[in-house]
Amino acid sequence: MTKIIKVDPENYTDNELFEAAGILRNGGLCAFPTETVYGLGAIYTDCEAVLNIFKAKGRPADNPLIVHICDFEQLYKLVKEVPETALNLAKHFWGGPLTIILPKSDCVPYEVTAGLDTVAVRFPSHPIATALIRETGIPIAAPSANLSGKPSPTAAEHVIADMKGKADIIIDGGNSFFGIESTVVDLSVKVPQVLRPGAVTIEDLRPVLGNIEYGSGASAPKSPGMKYKHYAPDAPVYIIEGDAVSIAERLADEKTGILTYNVAPENFKKGIVLDAGKNSYEYAAHMFYYLRKFDELGVTKILAVPPEEDNMGYSVRNRLYKSAGGKVICE
Ligand code: TXA
Ligand code: MG
Repeated sequence: MTKIIKVDPENYTDNELFEAAGILRNGGLCAFPTETVYGLGAIYTDCEAVLNIFKAKGRPADNPLIVHICDFEQLYKLVKEVPETALNLAKHFWGGPLTIILPKSDCVPYEVTAGLDTVAVRFPSHPIATALIRETGIPIAAPSANLSGKPSPTAAEHVIADMKGKADIIIDGGNSFFGIESTVVDLSVKVPQVLRPGAVTIEDLRPVLGNIEYGSGASAPKSPGMKYKHYAPDAPVYIIEGDAVSIAERLADEKTGILTYNVAPENFKKGIVLDAGKNSYEYAAHMFYYLRKFDELGVTKILAVPPEEDNMGYSVRNRLYKSAGGKVICE
């Protein structure tokens, strides 16, 4: 049985999270909203509960989880030491969509890190997420609350679709603000690396860290999660580069989903058209939502116009290319 509760992020009391916190402390699974995407959480100290997360998602065993915290003291407990670079980053970007990887302390079970000696730590900004961690009293290990391989959930309805009967409780806190997952930065190596781009961009990080580069590509991913099929709706996704209208004219039929961007929907003569928004931030907020929407509408393929490669656009394109499995159509 999965309990579903609605909590208004702008008007709630900690009391409303009492039951969810109790479920977590007793080894249950709780799905909760964050500012990026919804997470599926367990207390990080309960190995059995952590393994239940992998089961619920169908997640490969070698893909580590992020530990979510609500104050800096918890960071000190989770990692071997907090270098100045980490403290600077944390001060600049926490709470917010940034995950920091550091060598783990002995407190963190290998079930959480999938056998790695490093741990990913994130201090979210979402008021319900931080209140839940505070109320639970223990940091929460949580991946995104989708079935493995599916688009990350940006609304409670997505979590319900994927996790009903699997999570013990789902907190519906409305739509996610950013819509794509946090930026993952590895500080356990000499030169800091962005392993997963997100709303905190490499340009945001550079002034704080100085030297920073993008991590290794798909051939040898340092973030184990990046090598798997990801963010994929049921219908195949094709990125269309070039003249979107003429490509759609050639390839679209009534059952084609078109995710448009900077091209007015009325220009497309066939297909079901959804507009990703006016800039790459809006695109991020809509992308996973619309990919799932297309599945609900029963489309048989999806043509997606990607955003420009600006800061957030870079991160959106990263997800979109993965959801397309690299399939690109030019002209
Ligand atoms: O925004 C987010 O980060 C969301 C919300 C719920 O916080 N969480 C999320 O978790 O996206 P997940 O599990 O879907 O993605 C975590 C990513 C994976 O690519 C994983 O491989 C990587 O972080 N990761 C976790 N621990 C790591 C570690 N110790 N070293 C390298 N990569 C790690
Ligand atoms: Mg995920």
